[in-house]
Amino acid sequence: MIILAIETSCDETAVAVVRNGREILSSELFSQADMHALYGGVVPEIASRNHAATIGKLAELAVKNSGITKCKLDGVAVTYAPGLIGALLVGVNFAKGLAMALDVPLIPVHHIRGHIAANYIAFPELEPPFLCMIASGGSSLIADVRSYTDISIVGRSRDDAAGECFDKAARVLGLGYPGGPALDKLAQMGDEALFALPRPNIEGHPYDMSFSGLKTAVVNIVHNTEQKGEALDKASLAASFAATVSDILVSRVIAAARELGRDKIAIAGGVAANSRIRADFVKSAGKQDLKLFIPPLNLCGDNAAMIGCQGYYEYLAGARAGMDLNAFATLDVSF
Ligand code: KG4
Repeated sequence: MIILAIETSCDETAVAVVRNGREILSSELFSQADMHALYGGVVPEIASRNHAATIGKLAELAVKNSGITKCKLDGVAVTYAPGLIGALLVGVNFAKGLAMALDVPLIPVHHIRGHIAANYIAFPELEPPFLCMIASGGSSLIADVRSYTDISIVGRSRDDAAGECFDKAARVLGLGYPGGPALDKLAQMGDEALFALPRPNIEGHPYDMSFSGLKTAVVNIVHNTEQKGEALDKASLAASFAATVSDILVSRVIAAARELGRDKIAIAGGVAANSRIRADFVKSAGKQDLKLFIPPLNLCGDNAAMIGCQGYYEYLAGARAGMDLNAFATLDVSF
């Protein structure tokens, strides 16, 4: 089955053609990051307009580079939730038009399920059940992937997402947008022991997380140092910050895997590209004898290949949408 997949939930316009869920025939991506960098973060209206201007050409390119013709497509998969509502609607409406014109099924895909599925592309041998950490700009979740479409949440952030926290910390450190990759690089030159940052626990919910206090602590350190006219060791603050986020995520995923008896863990989402988090997962999983799946960097951030992959499994499970498909800014991954 060959699926054309569309992803427009945030500031990346992406279209891919995927065969039988696991083979990428083409994957095209247009990142708007430079346009949003001017404003220090994603401007929803600008994101929607750019998706609308780009999606048609990108879809044509994806079909051309896949080596097949449009009439060979068996389905159109699209991210319909969660994300920026205007941005999602561009993808959903384009997908509806294409599915109708080609007379093929329209398959709705949850964005976070797509992030999890990035691991199926990277690791052909990976099959559920496994535990997955998803950390992106909008979500921080620990999910128990019982089957391709039966997914339950074991832990979640009670406030900010880890990626949002990386971006805010990077911004106050003067690293621009998107800040995660720049903070990651700077942290590699610092001494993480120089700053003690909060690692809050949520009573009675051992796998839930909170990142807003950590974000505020970084902002306060930067402002207090500025007010006193002292020099700030930005690299060490970045190193302490990355080590703290990593500790919060890794410790919970490992503990949850032990409690649930899962012997496989995977990571996903833009923050899974972080070098400290990747290294800590390798160390901790090794100690616990857990099999670890870490996707390559190009499959961590938003892309459409992961939507095509999950779309295939959603299709097999019976998911179909009509021309009344709507987009949703929020929707639980276990809906
Ligand atoms: O998954 P993603 O591309 O988009 C969403 O679905 O949200 O994640 C974007 C997030 C941003 O917050 C970005 O700063 C963060 O992932 N990110 C990183 C790194 N690369 C991207 N955070 C920490 N270290 C990185 N190397």
